[in-house]
Amino acid sequence: MKLAKRIAQLPAYLFADLDKKKQAAIARGMDVISLSIGDPDLPTPELIVRAAEKAVADPANHSYPAYAGSKAFREACAKWMERRFGHRFDADKEVLGLIGSKEGIAHLPLALVDPGDVVLCPQPGYPVYAIATRLVGGEVFEMPLLAKNGFLPDLDAIPTEVADKAKLLWINYPNNPTGAVAGLDFFERVVDFCRAHDIVLCSDNAYSEMCFDDYRAPSVFDVPGAREVAIEFHSMSKTYNMTGWRVGFLAGRADVVEPFRDLKSNLDSGPFSAVQVAAMEAMARGEALVPDLCEIYKGRRDVLVAGLRRAGFEPFVPQATFYVWMPVPGGDDQAFAGRLVDELGVIVTPGSGFGSAGAGYVRFSLTVDEARLEEAVKRIESLSA
Ligand SMILES: Cc1ncc(COP(=O)(O)O)c(C=O)c1O
Repeated sequence: MKLAKRIAQLPAYLFADLDKKKQAAIARGMDVISLSIGDPDLPTPELIVRAAEKAVADPANHSYPAYAGSKAFREACAKWMERRFGHRFDADKEVLGLIGSKEGIAHLPLALVDPGDVVLCPQPGYPVYAIATRLVGGEVFEMPLLAKNGFLPDLDAIPTEVADKAKLLWINYPNNPTGAVAGLDFFERVVDFCRAHDIVLCSDNAYSEMCFDDYRAPSVFDVPGAREVAIEFHSMSKTYNMTGWRVGFLAGRADVVEPFRDLKSNLDSGPFSAVQVAAMEAMARGEALVPDLCEIYKGRRDVLVAGLRRAGFEPFVPQATFYVWMPVPGGDDQAFAGRLVDELGVIVTPGSGFGSAGAGYVRFSLTVDEARLEEAVKRIESLSA
């Protein structure tokens, strides 16, 4: 059988070697600590699970859901956007339910990108922006996120002829994998840039609620006029420990929502209705639990950062997300990550897995408890000794 060309061009799995090392460490009987997964270790809050149980038992939720998400769900999303950011959206025209934000990110290019069109993607970055572009024959123009620029893309470095061919520009602040955040001045510049070049600005705000130290992540819509330019993706996954439930939404430009909704009606049938009910409960009553969750991640961040500093490293201290980004001595992130698994049984993600500009860094996830993080840093300290 000959596979489709689009499959053949998928990038090679970068972590195969690291996976082998991990399996070998487990086989040697090592107590492996994984700091590589972007998946909360804590369970979905009880009240959300209870709401879902009731909804699952209700036959009204057993048939095909409304493609775009139920009206009640979309209204709940619009209300959440208004409560959280102070911006109103029309639940019919400007909100679309997604089967997790990844589903929306992966499918959007099918609606908006023709072969040869350019998509501006951050790198290091969430890999789906670039892969989804390539799957539809689009061309990826990479925007390096460099430490010297606070891990923000340098818009002036994008050639005008590239910008003029671009259909989409992806931003993601709070950022995976660097943990960087962006100020309103950056959002203003990127809105202006996209307006000037007629580009749909795609803001991936999956980590908007995972903030520490009194920091509150903005929405791209805080920029006046952004709603003519932008769409924003939100997710219940990280905010409410709901990664497995697969539910999120996008809000913004009606002229994007409408064709995207039409496209999606040919691809899927929206999130399971009972999951939508659970997400509504999360947005309404689960929200009160989010500050406690952020405190937990903040405590973990502080343990990890302090330990890494004691070991002589210089991690970036994130104000948001549950990731810690750190330059590695010598600059070989694959070798460094390999050494951590082989010698210490600690698994981290090499930055080069997020694009070449991520080379020289590793990403730690704060998705184990403080005691395990203490143990991980104790081992890392022994490495430097
Ligand atoms: C930056 C970013 N965007 C989007 C997603 C997708 O989240 P979900 O599909 O669970 O909503 C992730 C998941 O790790 C992510 O890191």
